Amino acid sequence: QRDLENQLPLRGKQFLITAGPTYEAIDPVRFIGNHSTGKMGFDIAECAAQLGATVTLISGPTTLQVQSKNIALVRVTSAAEMYAACHQYYPEVDVAICAAAVADYKPKFAADQKIKKSENTLTLELEKTKDILASLGQSKENQFLIGFALETENEIENAKLKIQKKNLDLIVLNSLQDKGAGFATATNKVTFIDNNFDIEAMPLKSKEAVATDIINKVISHYEKNS
Ligand code: CTP
Ligand code: CA
Repeated sequence: QRDLENQLPLRGKQFLITAGPTYEAIDPVRFIGNHSTGKMGFDIAECAAQLGATVTLISGPTTLQVQSKNIALVRVTSAAEMYAACHQYYPEVDVAICAAAVADYKPKFAADQKIKKSENTLTLELEKTKDILASLGQSKENQFLIGFALETENEIENAKLKIQKKNLDLIVLNSLQDKGAGFATATNKVTFIDNNFDIEAMPLKSKEAVATDIINKVISHYEKNS
């Protein structure tokens, strides 16, 4: 048993992984959210843990549960809570992977009481949330930092811009071109782009298999740099 554990490629490595949607409060009973299930991030966490890593999984609202005892699950609700939790753990980790579908905007004012219906139209003022991934890129020391990108046009060019803007080591571009890729599906079609702009397009796969591919990218990074 001991010998086997010593052979695990991610033994001793600390991971921070974000998953799921965020909910941004409108009033005490309503929010702005999205259809993310959290499955991609949870699958990445399980894969890393199976290979010996210690994982802190910071997740927005989801019905998923963790399996591995090497995963500490931190449940958050809003983008602001996810931001704070990420920065709490980030200085201690070797690898950070942001798979969460974080809200880009939140209501500027959340009402204290349930909003009553009155006029025929209701306007909500929204303000930008903080970009968690970009802020991790800014405070990067030795962490290997991986982000996702979802684009519907100029996919590769836009993903390259995100690598630069957010100071990433690798980006996982989610392709919506094929049916069965993206939110609330069991499969994903991704393209990897690294910080040298080397591109690798993968075929349509289960999210578990995509998670394995992502973790293999991390392992080969450490193999190259050891
Ligand atoms: N992300 C984040 N915090 C935010 C918004 C996004 O950490 N407030 C992260 C996501 O987890 C993902 C990456 O940024 O890893 C890219 O998300 P995406 O929505 O594709 O890009 P944005 O930078 O939000 O830009 P846009 O939505 O305008 O394309
Ligand atoms: Ca976004």
